[in-house]
Amino acid sequence: MRVLVIGSGGREHALVWALARSPGVTEVIGAPGNGGIAEQARCVRADVGNPRELADVAEAEGAALTFVGPELPLVNGVADEFVRRGLRLVGPDARAARLEGSKAFAKEFMARHGIPTARFAICASAAEARRLIASGRFGFPLVIKADGLAAGKGVSIAHTPRDAEEIIERFMVHRVLGSAGERVVLEECLTGRECSFFALTDGEFVLPLPPAQDYKRAHDGDHGPNTGGMGAISAPHLLDAATRERILREIVEPTIRAAAREGFPYRGVLYVGLMLTPEGPRVLEYNVRLGDPEAQAILPRLESDLLEIGDALVTGSLSRIRPRWSADATVCVVLASGGYPGSYHTGYPIQGLEEARRLAGVLIFHAGTTRAPDGSFQTAGGRVLNVVARGRTLAEARARAYQAASLITFERMHYRRDIGAEWSG
Ligand code: AMP
Ligand code: GLY
Repeated sequence: MRVLVIGSGGREHALVWALARSPGVTEVIGAPGNGGIAEQARCVRADVGNPRELADVAEAEGAALTFVGPELPLVNGVADEFVRRGLRLVGPDARAARLEGSKAFAKEFMARHGIPTARFAICASAAEARRLIASGRFGFPLVIKADGLAAGKGVSIAHTPRDAEEIIERFMVHRVLGSAGERVVLEECLTGRECSFFALTDGEFVLPLPPAQDYKRAHDGDHGPNTGGMGAISAPHLLDAATRERILREIVEPTIRAAAREGFPYRGVLYVGLMLTPEGPRVLEYNVRLGDPEAQAILPRLESDLLEIGDALVTGSLSRIRPRWSADATVCVVLASGGYPGSYHTGYPIQGLEEARRLAGVLIFHAGTTRAPDGSFQTAGGRVLNVVARGRTLAEARARAYQAASLITFERMHYRRDIGAEWSG
């Protein structure tokens, strides 16, 4: 069977890698893919924001099943377009994808259904936002979120009224995020440990994936600006059984039931970004896809066939399968271009990939790379590579990942040295 993977980052490389291992897969096609994906899949050009173009690719390539990495195609209705044409795709339709596409929609949905989240208000104008900020209702620090998709740049934390005014100006007056900043959500700032919780669902049955933790800030010790994610870890013990149960009963299952009740049954991967507060787990955000780089840490632990899982998701037979996960821990370190998440240069040659890949228990997933005709790789994005290592413990996985990372070089390479450190004793 031919399968198509939409997207061009490390998450998509991990999906391609997992699918290429499936006995039922004869060929993987990447749209558009990247330098590393091109080693395992045939890459075809496509605009990931354009559902019709993506469905054209699936038709032309005879893809029997399509996996979607990023949120943009889902929010733009790629699942709806595929269904209209009788094509099979793993992922929620546009109505369900509003849970990620509009933070205001997601917050109101949670409020309607009593799903625990930070207290909030939605503001449709700068004047309204200023009034609310002046009222001191949520105090400081205050979290300000642009309503629409903003590629990870839509959340800011204001520590003073002056910060808040500056953020409102940027989002709502200068519209630096375009229409994504037409409305904002103001919310109380929660504290605690963050956790990414993923569940597969066919609209009824819910199957949680192993827990993962993302490292969002650019620099060690959680300093510096927010990024798409500078690393991730996954291990069985990241969440204790009681917290996991609570997240399922109080958050994930009510979300899936409420979506169905509101007329948009959710099918695909639901990603709940959580703050584990002293009062219990609270939703920071919903995403309608796998996390990047969490997927790169989670998928190497999958011992079952990803194709079978995808098939169960589209046929509504998830309750019939029981994917197995290794008890190993994984650590994923993102190698980024110097300057990321701000501006950076690309086109630098990458050395040491072969040596790193040869280490036991190490996988390299590419994100922003291109492959030259002679087989060498160059940097082509902010997040360039994901170095993933497995181990019996997080400490072992971490040591391997950093050993592999130390073999890779490119000009102005930057990575965090503390991924998984707090769990490694
Ligand atoms: P989001 O895109 O909504 O997940 O926000 C990105 C990041 O902002 C989260 O991973 C948190 O680190 C932070 N964040 C979002 N909402 C809150 C909140 N209410 N309190 C504290 N931090 C938050
Ligand atoms: N790692 C955060 C995200 O995928 O949104």
